[in-house]
Amino acid sequence: MELALTNLTSHEVLKTSGHVDKFSDFMVKDVKSGSCYRADKLIEEVLEKQLEKEKDKLSEEQKKVMIETIAKAGSFSAEEIDQCIKKFNIRNPETGNELSPAYPFNLMFGTDIGPTGTVKGFLRPETAQGIFVNFKKLLDYNGGRLPFGGATVGIGFRNEIAPRSGLLRLREFHLAEIEYFVDPENKNHAKFSDFKDIKIPLLSKELQENNESPRTDLTIGEAVAQGIVHNETLAYYLLRTFLFLKRCGLDESGIRFRQHLKTEMAHYATDCWDAEVLTSYGWVEVVGHADRACYDLTHHSNATGQEMVAARKFSKPTLVKTIKANLNKAAIGKSEYKQIFKTIVDYVERLSDAEKKNIQEQLQKASEYIATLPDGAKVKFTSNMLSFEEKEQNVMEQKFTPHVIEPAFGLGRILYCILEHRFRMRNEKRTYLSLPAKLAPYKTSILPIVSHPEFAEYIKKLCNQPFPLLFSSKNSL
Ligand code: GLY
Repeated sequence: MELALTNLTSHEVLKTSGHVDKFSDFMVKDVKSGSCYRADKLIEEVLEKQLEKEKDKLSEEQKKVMIETIAKAGSFSAEEIDQCIKKFNIRNPETGNELSPAYPFNLMFGTDIGPTGTVKGFLRPETAQGIFVNFKKLLDYNGGRLPFGGATVGIGFRNEIAPRSGLLRLREFHLAEIEYFVDPENKNHAKFSDFKDIKIPLLSKELQENNESPRTDLTIGEAVAQGIVHNETLAYYLLRTFLFLKRCGLDESGIRFRQHLKTEMAHYATDCWDAEVLTSYGWVEVVGHADRACYDLTHHSNATGQEMVAARKFSKPTLVKTIKANLNKAAIGKSEYKQIFKTIVDYVERLSDAEKKNIQEQLQKASEYIATLPDGAKVKFTSNMLSFEEKEQNVMEQKFTPHVIEPAFGLGRILYCILEHRFRMRNEKRTYLSLPAKLAPYKTSILPIVSHPEFAEYIKKLCNQPFPLLFSSKNSL
């Protein structure tokens, strides 16, 4: 993947986006055979089987603990996985052998590009990055105004440790993603009030921590007002996804929105809600809604030196607060970092106000801040090297790094859920799909139940009724 607008290779983009270093699942190995397993799925599978097999022997308390563990396995840290394996004496179900401690496994497919194989690359794990690296162009298309969204549909690739369950867990899958850029100081949505009175089932992280069921009594407007969903734009997309899934024919009682626990969130997200659908495999994530804040734009901007910002424009000079970074260049010049002086100056010049605030807090708390520069070099700043001052200035515009809200649809998973939710049996032999008209490939059909030639004339007459859909050659019987 060569990205024309920025001349970056996929390796550079995905290194900057954090996927090379942080996009991983935990794996465990059979200590004797070396077979590898995705840790959370193995824990779930073993405990589910044990629950089923020993349901008459286990106490209610034991069952409760096991059910809780199954529900939370996906959010476990490496240490929690190790503790869980020890606590339940989990072994490889196929061999009975012990398992290794959990370790991270990067989910991307690496590859060598070109005939010499010297250019390293990755198949994209998400389509979103194509939008981020083209942000400046997209902002231009929108006349420099926010909010706006970019959408893309395409294939994503992940080196899934345990591919299985038909369309649900694949190494190559279709994604449809929207990146909706907003001003971090105003995450309201213009159309939110049109939808605010609709109720949607919300399973917040607090409810999960207390093992409670989703709340179904709240309108989306109330959920935002009570701080359960952080902002209107995120809530707006949860709601639109809910309506979309219902229009696809999914049963409302089998849809819920589950907030990620802190430990299960992707490295780029500050908040995340999955639309989950109940299937014969349990609850399955079909759409992720992440508030990625300014993570991607900040990282791409730092790595490329391109400003990726928008501006609030004022009609008259307006007093705004800014944070000025004071880099003690003399101290840097005399320090162990003098060889990378220029890189440090560039780094400090490009810090956003939010980053400056964060560094300032760290310097106050710990008297030092270890920064990672775009090329990966680490610099330990002290208050003598870097300090900040708040300033008030009269300006006509104020630059800022936009935040982004991302609904990401797993198309194969949605299709699978539609098939399960719309499958009907009239009796053992007669099965059919009851699809919403918008999805049905055939809108109407006339199916004679008796094939006697006498009926042919009547059937022809029926077919000749003026139903255009029925008579288009594509839909004729
Ligand atoms: N961009 C959403 C995801 O990678 O899951």
